[in-house]
Amino acid sequence: MKKGFLISFEGGEGCGKSTQIKKFTQYLKEQGVDFLLTREPGGTELGEEIRNILLNYKGDISPLTEFFLFCVSRSKLINEVVKPALEEGKVVVMDRYFDSSIAYQGYAGGVDINKIIQTTKFVTDGVEPDLTFLLDLKTEVGMQRKQKDENLKNFDRIERKSLSFHEKVHDGYLEIAKKFPNRIVVIDASQSPDEVFNNIKEIYQKRIKK
Ligand code: TYD
Repeated sequence: MKKGFLISFEGGEGCGKSTQIKKFTQYLKEQGVDFLLTREPGGTELGEEIRNILLNYKGDISPLTEFFLFCVSRSKLINEVVKPALEEGKVVVMDRYFDSSIAYQGYAGGVDINKIIQTTKFVTDGVEPDLTFLLDLKTEVGMQRKQKDENLKNFDRIERKSLSFHEKVHDGYLEIAKKFPNRIVVIDASQSPDEVFNNIKEIYQKRIKK
C-alpha cells in the first residue's frame, strides 16, 4: 500500500527544471525529509542504457518506437524503485515522468494520446504523481537559454528536433495541465529562479499537509 508522496517535474527544453529540482531536493534535505530523487529516462542501470540509446542513437527512431523504449525504462524504474520507495513512505521526486511521453511522443510526435495513457497505466501499474510541477516557458526563450549553456552541437537527439516540434511539446503540456488540473500545477518559469522556487515550495507545503 502506498504511503509516500510522488512529485514529478515537467517542462520543455531550457525551462530550468534541473535548477529547480536541485533547489527543491536541497530544501527537502534541510527539512529532514526522507526522499528519493530519480530521473527518466534512466534511474536504473537498464534505464540508463536505454537513455543512452534514446538520446544518442544515430539512426532514426519513430515516436512510437521511442515511446516503447521509454516504457521499458519506466517499467523497471516504477516497479522496482519508485513503488517500493512509496511503500516505505518516502517522498519520491521524479525528473520527468509519463507526461513527457504525452507531450513529446503524443502531442509533438503524433502517437495516439489515449493509447499512451492506457499503455502507461499498464506499464506502471497505475502509479501516478500526487503532484506535478509544469515549468512553463516560451519555447524560443527555453531554446535560447539552452544555447547559451551548451554548444548546439552537443544537443542530444531529442533536443535537436525542430522548433515547431518543441512548440508542439509546449502547447501539449498546457493541454495536459487542463486535463489534469488537480494534479498539475503550472508555474511561470520566466520568473527568477528564486521566485520560481518560492512558488514550488509554497504549493508543496500546502499539498503535503492535505
Ligand atoms: P534530459 O537530458 O533529461 O533532458 P532535460 O534536461 O530537458 O530533462 O533528456 C530527456 C529527454 O527525453 C528530453 O528531451 C525529453 C525526452 N523525453 C521524451 O521525449 N519522452 C519521455 O517520456 C521522457 C521521460 C523524456
